[in-house]
Parts: sequence; structure tokens; C-alpha cells
Amino acid sequence: MRAQELAHEVAERLTRSGSPSPGPEARILVAHVLGVEPAQLLLASVTPQQRAAVDHLVELRAEGAPLQHLTGVAYFRHETLDVGPGVFIPRPETEEMVGWALRRLAERPAERRRVVELCAGSGAITAALARELGGVELHAVELSPEAHAYLVRNLDGLGVDIVLGDMADAFAELDGTVDLVIVNPPYIPEAHRQVLPSDVLQDPVMALFSGPDGLDAMRVVARVAARLLRPDGLLATEHDDSHAPAVVALFERAGFGDVASHADLTGRPRFVTAAAPPGDGRIGL
Ligand SMILES: C[S@@+](CC[C@H](N)C(=O)[O-])C[C@H]1O[C@@H](n2cnc3c(N)ncnc32)[C@H](O)[C@@H]1O
Repeated sequence: MRAQELAHEVAERLTRSGSPSPGPEARILVAHVLGVEPAQLLLASVTPQQRAAVDHLVELRAEGAPLQHLTGVAYFRHETLDVGPGVFIPRPETEEMVGWALRRLAERPAERRRVVELCAGSGAITAALARELGGVELHAVELSPEAHAYLVRNLDGLGVDIVLGDMADAFAELDGTVDLVIVNPPYIPEAHRQVLPSDVLQDPVMALFSGPDGLDAMRVVARVAARLLRPDGLLATEHDDSHAPAVVALFERAGFGDVASHADLTGRPRFVTAAAPPGDGRIGL
């Protein structure tokens, strides 16, 4: 059977099971099983064993497994990352914040590009910073041992200082010396657990929920950034699209300067940036 024909058939099955983008997903699944790029499907043919493998993946997808768990990879900017159950799947919503960070870092001399990523997950943000801009000194921390295993694999060879632990007390040795703290923390209010779509709930709980208002981790981020940043250091943090005013207020209350809200690629408010607060790195939050 021709691969292209199978991809059409799979797309119809995925449409019936409610997939949001059946055509591209079908091509990705068939190409994954054949071990080729989706662009090469036109010339490929499929063995009965490969067809059975595709059928199995289509069933799993119809049952709600994320596409990225079936293929084992996720794409983020120019990166291809290993992912699976136990690690947050990087989202396109985060890509604009990385673009902002790259522009700000590029303005600084190479010896002033010390970056800490908190809540690093698969390492998507740090990998993009490492490969898209030279001379960045990178440190990344992640609390979940399962996610940490992916982090180590995805950042292999990039020279990143990787820590398994709680961001709250990570990198004390860098206090007051960091140029940029960047983070995509957990930010969903606990109460939303009942109403989230099933594909989001496939991400680890630790990656998603953050107390009654969704801002528990954000308060920790403010405290950690305040102690890590040098006096002219910068912070960038992603947030829920409904939290922009609350996150801006949180960083202003903590004494950060130039607090600004930014939109993601779809135009929704998605990340806040700020300048280090003056003082000794301790804030009243
Ligand atoms: C929304 S995910 C973001 C992952 C990755 N940075 C990205 O953008 O794809 C949040 C991550 O923070 C981790 N995490 C949660 N609490 C943490 C803490 N106190 N210290 C360090 N990491 C934490 C979770 O395990 C999860 O991997």
C-alpha cells in the first residue's frame, strides 16, 4: 500500500475520533512508523507490519494519548526534543518569550550572558537559548526526577549546569550574579483540574497546578529571581493568559522595575518581563 493512501485513511479515522488537526497528525504518525520525514511519504510504501503499527498508534491517539507521546518527540522553535509521559510537552505559546530573551541577551556582551532557567522540564527553553545564541552560560533546575531525566538527555553536549531540585533554593552560589532568569512555571489554579481538556491532563500534575489562585509558584519565582539577579538583571516568566494583571501586580509589589506584559503568537497575554528589584535580593512577598 502507498504511504500517502494510508495517511488519507488515518486522517479520516482521526477526524471521526475528534482530532483537532487530523491531516498533519496522520502524516506525522505514518512517517514516524516508516522512519521517514512527512515530506517523503509521497514516494514511500507500507508493509503489513508497518500498517499494523500505524493502526495501533491511531487507536491510542483516539483514546486520548498526546501525539508527542506516541512519536516520542516534540518540536520547539528549531529544537527536536525527547518527550514522553512524565515530562511537560513544550508548547508554541512559550516560543515568543524565548525570542524576547534572545534579543535582550544579544544586546549584552558575551561575558554578561549568565542565564538560569527555573522549572526547566524537557529543557526546551534552555536548548533554544544554547543553540540560537553563542556564549550563553546556562543553568537549569527541575524538581521532578522523571522530567529531569529528559532534561539531561535533551541538553546533552550543550554544557548546561543541570540541577535536580527545588527552584526555591537552587543555585545559591550564583546569588546576585545572574543576567537573566527565565521560567515557565506551573500556573493553573487547582480548582480547574476538573474542567481541563483530557490532552492537557496528560502532562504531569507537578507541571500544571499551583495552588488556589495558580500563583503559588509565581511567588517563589519572584523570591528566587530577586536573590539570583544582578542589579541590572532581567526576569521573564510565562503565565496563564488570564493572569497578566495579577502577575504584573505581583512583580510590582515585589519591587521589580519596568514590569511589562507581552503577548504570545496568538496575541494572548502570555509572559511578563521585569528588571531586578533594588536592594539586597530579599523581597517582602
Ligand atoms: C509548565 S512546565 C514547563 C517546562 C518547560 N520549561 C517548558 O516550558 O516546556 C513546569 C515545570 O516545572 C517543574 N516544577 C514544578 N515545581 C517546581 C519547583 N518547585 N522547582 C523546580 N521545578 C519545578 C515541573 O516538574 C515542570 O517540569
